[in-house]
Amino acid sequence: MSRHTELLTDSTLARLRDAAQRAAGHSYSPYSRFPVGAAVLGANGKVYSGCNVENASFGLTQCAERAALTAAIADGAAAGSLQALLIYTPGNTAHPPCGACRQVMRELMAAAGTVASCCDTTELKCWSHAEHLPDPFLPEDLPEAARASKADKS
Ligand code: THU
Repeated sequence: MSRHTELLTDSTLARLRDAAQRAAGHSYSPYSRFPVGAAVLGANGKVYSGCNVENASFGLTQCAERAALTAAIADGAAAGSLQALLIYTPGNTAHPPCGACRQVMRELMAAAGTVASCCDTTELKCWSHAEHLPDPFLPEDLPEAARASKADKS
């Protein structure tokens, strides 16, 4: 964990926190009772949010971070353009993202982007991608034929 906070000015942090907190309030988490909200900053300055959505078939649960990233992509944000992502969970502990979300963040966010986590105290944890996902599996690891081309934007 670092103080990788250059992209997180106080005003950006406040916008992301507000959106993540609001999304957590809409979390559908009757099984874990662990509401999570996430908000991501696009290159255009827009903020996209998401919350965790659970299911009685537990494996179908979707994490807040991936929901926020999906909202950004659905709005037309380009993969690799997303600057900062903030996670919010109620309580006294800022929790780190799960491994699956780290992998998806690495592909959809800017390589120099920041991931951060907050809670109801002043605690703020920040990571670079390299810190929370060293040696990631990337599109370049796939055979050329299997990679999405930039022209496809898919
Ligand atoms: N969860 C997230 O939304 N993000 C994470 O990074 C970790 C876990 C959710 C999934 C599930 O609804 C609940 O938290 C408990 O695991």
